[in-house]
Amino acid sequence: VKHILLDVDTGVDDALALIFAAKSDKLHIEGITTVFGNVDVKQATKNTLQVLELAQPRYEIPVAMGADAPLFRPRRENVTAIHGANGLAGYELPEERQTPVNERASDFIVRKVREQAHDITLVFTGRLTNLAVALAKDPSIAQKAKLVLMGGAIKVPGNITPVSEANIHGDPEAAHRVFESGIPITMVGLDVTGKAKFGEAHYQQLMSGFTEEQAELKAFMQHIFTFSFEASDRLNEGRYRLMHDPLALAVVEDASLVEMEDYYVYIETKGPVSSGATLVDFRRPQSRTNASVCMQVREEAFLQHYIQTVLS
Ligand code: BDR
Ligand code: CA
Repeated sequence: VKHILLDVDTGVDDALALIFAAKSDKLHIEGITTVFGNVDVKQATKNTLQVLELAQPRYEIPVAMGADAPLFRPRRENVTAIHGANGLAGYELPEERQTPVNERASDFIVRKVREQAHDITLVFTGRLTNLAVALAKDPSIAQKAKLVLMGGAIKVPGNITPVSEANIHGDPEAAHRVFESGIPITMVGLDVTGKAKFGEAHYQQLMSGFTEEQAELKAFMQHIFTFSFEASDRLNEGRYRLMHDPLALAVVEDASLVEMEDYYVYIETKGPVSSGATLVDFRRPQSRTNASVCMQVREEAFLQHYIQTVLS
């Protein structure tokens, strides 16, 4: 079992990742921190608690609220077409029972990494702001944990600018600090998650597998997949949901789902187009590297694993 600390900006695909992590018997969630991104941090925290309680009603996992803006920039985001006004495609889950813990996300991260040094994987599916703040508070945590992140794009296009992906573009200075911190990084970028398309056939398979006790989870997933299919349809792309954040969790569980190569990844922080770009140094030989970069994914194996885990 892998011990993980998750950091999320709970919109639709973060919710799908949370459900996967909560159901997986190979992952143990030590805690969750939240960040602005798909929605503001308060909404992300509320969504996180509600989705957790839906997926895993028996456990109380500590949730710590984090940054509501990038390190040095104002927050500006509008992703309601993709995630709905509340981040969960407009679905109203029951009010959460739990409240967030009385500790800031960055402090929570520092404490957990110290307590579980060398036995914890940080999994980030949003902006890297909370980790950048944690590293500023205690740079030595970079030697005590690993990081798996959904973010960046080593092959264009990006999804915010022609070359930048949302999680890095949303706080490039934070990403820059994290990539230069020395923490071992596995990067699950947009060019790879963009191949993980959960389509109609996967949807039918998932829906027909739920038991009666899972009716609430089924109704939620039915809603968010249908919303996502309609959103991608409007963009003339066909009916599917890109499984960005769930793939990062699946890679933590089973790295054989992807092919990785080690590179030095530079984070651009300036320029109207280049800000947030993840530039890879492809020159050989490499004198130094800072990330294992996912290059390929066995997407159907991943999607089947996702379905089986959620139904378990
Ligand atoms: C990333 O941006 C967010 O909208 C998604 O949740 C995912 O983490 C994809 O670029
Ligand atoms: Ca996300």
